This record gives sequence, C-alpha cells and structure tokens, in this order.
Amino acid sequence: MVETRILRIDPERPDPALVREAAEVVRRGGIVAFPTETVYGLGADTYNEAAVRKVFEAKMRPVDNPLIVHIADFDQLYEVAVDVPPSAASLASRFWPGPLTLLLRKSARVPGVVTANRDTVAVRMPAHPVALALIRESGVPIAAPSANLAGRPSPTTAEHVVRDLYGRVDLIIDSGDTVYGVESTIVDLTRDPPVLLRPGAMPVEEVERVLGERLVIPPFARGLGMADAALAPGMKYRHYAPLKRLTVVEGDYTNLDGYARKVLEVVLDAATRGSRPAVLCSTETADIYRAAGIRVVELGPRSNVFVVARNLFKALRAIDEMPDVDEAFAEGFEEKGLGLAVMNRLRKASGFTIVRV
Ligand code: TXA
Ligand code: MG
Repeated sequence: MVETRILRIDPERPDPALVREAAEVVRRGGIVAFPTETVYGLGADTYNEAAVRKVFEAKMRPVDNPLIVHIADFDQLYEVAVDVPPSAASLASRFWPGPLTLLLRKSARVPGVVTANRDTVAVRMPAHPVALALIRESGVPIAAPSANLAGRPSPTTAEHVVRDLYGRVDLIIDSGDTVYGVESTIVDLTRDPPVLLRPGAMPVEEVERVLGERLVIPPFARGLGMADAALAPGMKYRHYAPLKRLTVVEGDYTNLDGYARKVLEVVLDAATRGSRPAVLCSTETADIYRAAGIRVVELGPRSNVFVVARNLFKALRAIDEMPDVDEAFAEGFEEKGLGLAVMNRLRKASGFTIVRV
C-alpha cells in the first residue's frame, strides 16, 4: 500500500502552488493521476525508469504495452521523437494541444520501459490546463496511460481513479469530469499511408482532411477482433470491460424505431431466460425499453454523439454497480465522427459479443 493524497485543482484556473506540489511528486519519482481533456492519466517522469515502472505496477499493466508521452511544448516533441515527418508537424500545429496522439520514431532519450522496447513513441500534447501546467512545472515530458486498473473502463472522473487506484499511487488530482470521456485518437505516422491505431476523441475525418489522404483503418480499430501485436501492442488485451456480461446489438439505425424494437426483442428474450437485463441506449429510443419495464441507462442523443462518448465509460461502470442487474445490452451507433470511437469501445467492452438484428 502507498499513501495516496488527493489534491483538488480547479480545471479553469489551476492554483500554481498546488500544481507545484503535484510537480514535486513527479520530479521526485512519484506517480500522479491527473486530468486530461480525454480521460484521467497516471503519470511519471518519462526519463525516470523506476518511476515509469511504478506506473505499470500500480495499474497491473503488462509491461509489453507501451505508454503515451505527454508534452507541453514543441521542444519536447523533438526531444522524445526523431525523423518527425512533415505530416506530424501539420497535424500537431493544427490539433495540439488536443486529443490526438502521434506515433513517431523514438529518440534515444526515451527509456525502453516507456515504449516497451519498441523503436516508436506515442506522443501527445493534452488540451487541459491542469495537465499542461503539471508537465511544464515538472520540467519533463510525462509518460502516462489512462488511470484505471488494466482492463477496466478509463476514468472520466477522479472518483473512478480513486475506485481503481487509491492506495496504489502517490497523488490523485481531482479536477472534476473530463471533457471528451474517450481517449485520444492514435495515428501511426511511421507507416505510409498512416494507420489508425485507435479511434478516439479527434474524429478521423478531421485528421484525414489535414493529411489530405485516407487513413488505413484496420478491423481492430473498429473494435472488430484482436490486433496484430506488432502494430498495436495494447489492442490485443481485453479492454473497458464491465464485470458483467455485455452484448452489443447492432442494426440499421436509419429505421430507428424498427431497430429499437428488434433490440427490445433480444433483451426481453434474455429476461424470459431469468436474467435481469439493462439497456445502454440513445435518448431517442429510451422510452421504447422503459415502456416494456426494462432498466435503462441513457447515453445521450444520436444527434450529438459527443455526449454519448462523454457518458460511455461512466455508464459501463454504473452497470457494474447496479445490484438488480445481471447483464447489459448496448445499442450500436453509426461509425461516423466520435461514433467510431464509441463503437470501438463498446465492441471491445463486450469482448466482441456482437449481435446483428
Ligand atoms: O487520451 C489518452 O490517450 C489517454 C490520456 C491519459 O492521454 N491515455 C491513454 O493511454 O489512453 P493508454 O495507455 O490507456 O492507451 C494508449 C494506447 C495503448 O493501447 C498503447 O498500446 C498504445 O497507445 N501505444 C503507446 N505507445 C505505443 C507505441 N510505441 N506503439 C504502438 N502503440 C502504442
Ligand atoms: Mg488505457
């Protein structure tokens, strides 16, 4: 057990004295959970191997799954990466700080423990005042995965972090809810054409617009099956898993009423088998399930999938906390904009238990 301190820092105007306190923990080789605009991260000094190792231990993360290096300025980009292609410069100048992670060639300065001994490094500049202030004040890039226990949904509030990591980390910064609620989009720029490794808070369509070319989108990036470990080491592990059974029910969302009625049939079928199901669904269709007496967790409107993404991990955790629910069924969403990130998370959380109606 580690003694865990909790520090409340205002996300709008971070108190410099509090940021200094947190940065001191990083500089001394401690590990700190901090907010970003996507999800909470669990950070350590990138250049301190012992500290980075503590991050893997605290999360119980397999050591072959590399971490993202978080930077606060462009000098740090050239410190951790080499052979930075013009495409990276264009994307970074357009989208950083922001929820886009670029996979680049690693510099010798980044210890192998951070990148799982790969020759690439994942880099991003987060758009969160507390994250940026913490990196600046620490004086080093911060290596950080999401601040959850390995395999659990990523934390979108400090309470989620406390739930998973209290007693395992030195400090948890509480700055309230994150903005996007899903992790950053990861693009591998070491390949030509570039490959989408993980859809996330930055829509693929916007990345493609700046690149002027289409990304390669492998099936695993859509949450369809396991990844080739050589390409995406993290994607072979079960992810985002609620402890209860989850089934994703996909279909034709253009006929929404018809679709929801078919989902309801699947759910009622489970109920007749003696299971007590809940449904994760859109605002538009929630009443159809409610009217049938089914427990509902509303994710948000299909017309604004940003809200759906934002509520997703909280909803997955909520299912686990419902004593009178045995399993969950999730509606599917169109794979456009943030919808691609949502479907990737849902399919993976279900362990690829997908039904088509
Ligand atoms: O939004 C985010 O990206 C959050 C916040 C905290 O920044 N971070 C995050 O980290 O989601 P994590 O570790 O949960 O997910 C990072 C993913 C992992 O699947 C990992 O395998 C992959 O990025 N990754 C990191 N470095 C890599 C590398 N060198 N090559 C291939 N994949 C890499
Ligand atoms: Mg993670």
